Amino acid sequence: MRILLLLLLAIPAQAGDSMLWPERLEPLPVLSAPAPLPSLSAQTCNACHGQIHDQWAQSGHAQSATNPAWLASKAALGDPPACQDCHLPLIQQRAELPRGPGGGGAAGRTANPAYEPTLALEGVTCVVCHVRDGIILGPRELPPEQAPHPVEQDEALRDARACAYCHQHALPGAEDTPFLDTVGEWERSAFGQAGIPCQDCHMQRVSGAIAGSRYAAFASHGGLNNRDPAALRRAVTLMLRIKKVRFERGDTVRASAELLNTGAGHAVPTGDPNIRVELRFELLGPAGKLAKNTEPTSHWLAREVQAEAPFAEISDDRLQPGASRTFDFGGELHKKQDPGTFTLRVSLHWWAMSPEQAQELKLGPEVVSVEFAEQQIRFEVN
Ligand code: HEC
Ligand code: HEC
Ligand code: HEC
Ligand code: HEC
Ligand code: HEC
Repeated sequence: MRILLLLLLAIPAQAGDSMLWPERLEPLPVLSAPAPLPSLSAQTCNACHGQIHDQWAQSGHAQSATNPAWLASKAALGDPPACQDCHLPLIQQRAELPRGPGGGGAAGRTANPAYEPTLALEGVTCVVCHVRDGIILGPRELPPEQAPHPVEQDEALRDARACAYCHQHALPGAEDTPFLDTVGEWERSAFGQAGIPCQDCHMQRVSGAIAGSRYAAFASHGGLNNRDPAALRRAVTLMLRIKKVRFERGDTVRASAELLNTGAGHAVPTGDPNIRVELRFELLGPAGKLAKNTEPTSHWLAREVQAEAPFAEISDDRLQPGASRTFDFGGELHKKQDPGTFTLRVSLHWWAMSPEQAQELKLGPEVVSVEFAEQQIRFEVN
């Protein structure tokens, strides 16, 4: 019944013919620049769509091909072409193409005559989502004379279809637990059921100019950066509670942190199973440093998948949309502590991969993680 309902709900979202994406994940064909634009680079669009350009330039999409975490993890796997399918989606962004039938690369690789190195540095660039067959696809129905380049409306840009090509992916043999399931998580959430698309949260309406025309509300491209602590903080509510506020040395401090997924239309974290969120408790002494004989304690929100193909899911400890979880803390105040004001601190950290994996790939914590929220409670110790 529930599945039937989801299917029925999904049908209206599929309405409207879309030229955006091929049926299957594959390198997007060689695109030609829509006349009279001189090139496919975002630099071309910048001339007229400067505000959107600058928002996009700050986003994860603009860094998808230069992100050190991606570069290091694909190199460790021997640079399989599959790692480029979403991070470098255009054929013109590939230096080499796999030789031989099937494109599996078994017969080696050959130089790509259509390769454009500048375009490759731009990763998920404007034309990946906006250009097909020499035409610029946009969300609105515009009279042709309003733009100096061909424009056509594509309704898929208004819903999850604009994102699913890269943010939803099932590997053969593990179809029941898709490797990337952000769209599935969203479809099962209250947001998906109410038809609130990804764009409502990630491409919020802002006022400003599109190519000289002033708009009260156009789709911002700035809500696509999960490394921004202020953006990440909007996904969750974090609350710290302590049982009492006066202690003697030798006592045990008991507290709990409640974490609620109040702002994301999918699990926190979502996407690649390597991505995880750490909830860390620290007990700080009067000098503001870790209290004597204590260590930070961490809890991880993550998804565990098999180490080898088909990488099926083993467990899922993430916070689903609308869900909450409580983490308990118990820390002994050592008899030899200095008395004074202590602080219990809880913080949240987004990680692109586990600390162990980062160490293996020689990536520092500052490259793969960001602290995005904290709460503190102070109490007296005699
Ligand atoms: C010479 C100026 C100019 C350049 C260069 C340019 N555009 Fe435009 N573009 C416009 C104008 C003007 C409009 C119409 C804006 C309006 O009135 O809504 C437009 C409209 C659009 C729309 C449709 C917006 C909608 O509301 O549906 C999209 C998408 C778009 N441009 C993308 C691009 C991309 C991608 C590039 C680079 C490959 C680019 N443009 C380069 C001037 C330009
Ligand atoms: C052509 C593939 C592609 C499409 C289409 C796409 N994305 Fe992404 N997206 C990516 C890749 C690849 C990353 C990872 C970038 C990185 O950090 O290396 C990403 C990252 C993100 C992030 C996290 C940003 C970060 O810093 O890593 C958000 C949020 C996001 N995408 C939202 C969306 C939304 C919303 C849509 C639809 C409107 C969309 N994406 C469409 C490929 C795509
Ligand atoms: C089906 C599309 C797709 C393919 C194929 C893909 N990725 Fe990604 N990748 C994404 C998306 C989407 C994200 C962003 C996920 C998120 O933030 O939720 C991402 C994020 C990442 C990140 C974290 C980036 C960060 O923000 O620091 C790494 C590392 C990564 N991918 C490595 C790889 C490697 C290695 C391969 C090849 C084995 C690969 N990807 C293939 C879509 C893809
Ligand atoms: C990951 C895919 C993606 C990338 C990359 C991307 N866009 Fe968009 N763009 C969209 C989607 C989706 C919409 C429609 C959002 C909506 O209306 O909800 C959109 C809307 C627009 C609009 C119309 C805004 C409005 O409200 O009328 C313009 C203009 C535009 N994009 C230009 C650009 C330019 C220029 C770049 C590169 C600097 C770019 N886009 C990069 C997906 C993308
Ligand atoms: C109700 C609002 C909401 C909706 C709907 C929503 N998101 Fe998000 N999403 C967030 C917030 C908040 C974050 C955390 C801040 C950020 O990264 O921008 C987030 C984070 C992400 C990330 C990076 C997360 C990570 O852990 O690395 C990706 C990728 C993403 N969203 C994609 C999508 C896609 C694709 C859809 C539609 C299928 C979608 N989102 C729908 C609010 C939403």
